Amino acid sequence: MGWKPRISNSEKPKYLAFVEALEADIANGTLRHGDRLPPQRDIAQALDVTIATVTKAFREAMQRGIVTSRTGSGTFVRVGDGGAEFERPQIDLSLNTVPSRPSKPFLDAALEEMGSRHTSDTLCAYEPATGSEAHRTLMAKWLRKRQLSVAPSDVVLTHGAQHALAACFYALAHRGDTVLCEQWTYAGIRRLGDLNQVRIEAVAMDEHGLDPADLARKLKKTGAKVVICTASVQNPTTASMSAERRRKIVAVCRDNSAVIVEDDIYGILSGDPLPPLAALDREVVIHISSLSKCIAPGIRLGTIVASERLLSTLQNALVALHWTAPSFWVEMFAFMMESGSADRCVTAHQKEAARRLGIFRDVTGLKPSTTLPSYHIWQAVPESWRLDDFISELLTLGVRVSPGHHFSVDRQADRDNNFIRICLGGGDGTDLLKEQLSKFRAVIGARPRLSTTIT
Ligand SMILES: Cc1ncc(COP(=O)(O)O)c(C=O)c1O
Repeated sequence: MGWKPRISNSEKPKYLAFVEALEADIANGTLRHGDRLPPQRDIAQALDVTIATVTKAFREAMQRGIVTSRTGSGTFVRVGDGGAEFERPQIDLSLNTVPSRPSKPFLDAALEEMGSRHTSDTLCAYEPATGSEAHRTLMAKWLRKRQLSVAPSDVVLTHGAQHALAACFYALAHRGDTVLCEQWTYAGIRRLGDLNQVRIEAVAMDEHGLDPADLARKLKKTGAKVVICTASVQNPTTASMSAERRRKIVAVCRDNSAVIVEDDIYGILSGDPLPPLAALDREVVIHISSLSKCIAPGIRLGTIVASERLLSTLQNALVALHWTAPSFWVEMFAFMMESGSADRCVTAHQKEAARRLGIFRDVTGLKPSTTLPSYHIWQAVPESWRLDDFISELLTLGVRVSPGHHFSVDRQADRDNNFIRICLGGGDGTDLLKEQLSKFRAVIGARPRLSTTIT
């Protein structure tokens, strides 16, 4: 531990002596605004006091306004009045969202049309849980955009992709089962695993997604019968499978009698020229799609496409989970499809995502991890940085990104991962984004400050 409070042998309680030592070191410049204090456990050990004493000291220091704490990041020295506080992020580069501006004109027009076309009695009644024939026909047509040729009877409606994933868990994985997925995965999968008491195990991946050899090994070792993965612009890594990788992954699962749940939520935004895994074998692959990343996340409309064999179990899960279909959103989307505004909206998002990736490239001088339109990227941090220090340094400048280990399935095995996810979809994508990325460039281009790495 680098910074160690020099505590006098006074009669004062230890926690107060600690706070005074902290104040003295701030006054003499040993500690500066934004420096991260060592973990409480390390201080306790170094001073031979209990953690409770250190906690009490931190609380007192906080009350005196000389430190501030950030959940998950640590405790930082604070100097001066409130104005000297850390800068507050104005856009959040850790939030994987989609900007509202590209879709706004299309959504506003659709909402207006909804008011003139419909009355509450047509929109607010119960519908079949998995969607009426007309709505399933509409979504089957939409999926042709992903080169998926499906009959309306193969498609069921969901309230978004997370809901579709939940239905797959309920239908296919039971308490104590193992489900396999990419070693870095979307947090919603781990949450569903916890909720259903299903074990989630990591499969190694590279820039082409799941590694087929490791997948085969893990399927045999665990006896798992369900694999969840993304073939186009995976979250968080943006990995996209090559045509050959897609064939191999499907073949490995077929050979091991496992089902693939393909989360294709980024397929339409990315405009991936390769068809999804489901186009290769509909008996093996369940396909999930959603409008969240290509139109707007508040539109709770998604789809599941599955073979007849799997569809009835999934339908049972969906009926239990949501009882009635998202009719309001389908009707709105029906208007957008008829008028052509759904396609125009997707094109607007693709252009905007490409523009933001361009800003990232120009401002940081770094190559984005994907060439396909995407609002998130995966970036390596130089090894001279400890990832925690890097994240803290950015935080002191008001820039918030997600460390790679937030997405790790096996956090123990992934301790040395030096990647972060940066999301570019926040705000209006102009000056604020450039400002945040300039700060990011300054930090990634610098060597760690010694005073930041107090350990
Ligand atoms: C890979 C992945 N799947 C599912 C979801 C949830 O999607 P939805 O908003 O459609 O429920 C997200 C959201 O970020 C995601 O990244």
